[in-house]
Amino acid sequence: MRKKVTIVGAGATGGSMAHILQEKGYCDIVLLDVIEGLPQGKALDLAHAGPLVGSDARITGTNDWKDTAGSDVVVITSGSPRKPGMSREDLVNINANIVREVAQKAVQHSPDTIIVEFANPMDAMCHVAKQATNLPRNRLVGQGGMLDSTRYRTFIAWELGVSVKDVAAYVLGGHTDATMVPIVSHALVGSVPLRQLLPKERIDAIVDRTRKAGTEIVGLLGTSAWYSPAWGTVEMVDSILLDRKRILPCAVWLEGEYGIRSAFVGVLAQLGAGGVEKVIEVELEPDELAGLRKAADAVLELISLVKT
Ligand code: LAC
Repeated sequence: MRKKVTIVGAGATGGSMAHILQEKGYCDIVLLDVIEGLPQGKALDLAHAGPLVGSDARITGTNDWKDTAGSDVVVITSGSPRKPGMSREDLVNINANIVREVAQKAVQHSPDTIIVEFANPMDAMCHVAKQATNLPRNRLVGQGGMLDSTRYRTFIAWELGVSVKDVAAYVLGGHTDATMVPIVSHALVGSVPLRQLLPKERIDAIVDRTRKAGTEIVGLLGTSAWYSPAWGTVEMVDSILLDRKRILPCAVWLEGEYGIRSAFVGVLAQLGAGGVEKVIEVELEPDELAGLRKAADAVLELISLVKT
């Protein structure tokens, strides 16, 4: 039997994820949304493409949680996206109510599921989902670092005129402009440390553009990005469903790593069939470590603003 993935929120991001997962072909997909017709219409459109994609994945569009029963992974993308002038943090109370309910229903209908949370402000919404479900840390993980890291890698590749495939770099910390921490000390291009290839001011400019990359897109499109967020999320789903045990940057409930406790912060984690199977604690430079701690403080401060 194929694995089953539910995507909650059939907007641009949810639809793109379904599209990518259909191409992968190894799971059935349920697109769920409160808007009537939207998930059904997108699912039908994707299903029509099946013969051309060469995919037998079953794609269901629904407004009914019952159709999500027995999902191996539930991805939460539901919630309001940003509008120009809004930060991700501005969405905290609008989306907390949605994420709380969605997380509870996800677990109610799929008691063994692993949740990948992506609604913004992502780190705070992970916290809300954890409070709502009490899931152990291996079964609730946030996507933000994958997206920020792919942006970081893209900018490095552009600057050096090299293949994106040769850039290995990641972003930890929070998924906000102020709290993300593009890690320079471990960034490699073709196995060569980035600092040997670029002067500090060029690296600083890349780090700055990475931090503001989501905001740059909101300024251009009038709403949040969806293609690269969808790809980032699918990489995580992929590692979980196929038990690939990849080491990916994602938001995890920390239990003392980096001196941080009881907060979701972006770290390197090993994702496999068990969800977050391991947190990889790496040696960071002092300002990078301080950045992670600042991200933890910021998410806890944001959570204190959530009305319950
Ligand atoms: C971004 C939003 C989706 O970073 O969080 O583009």
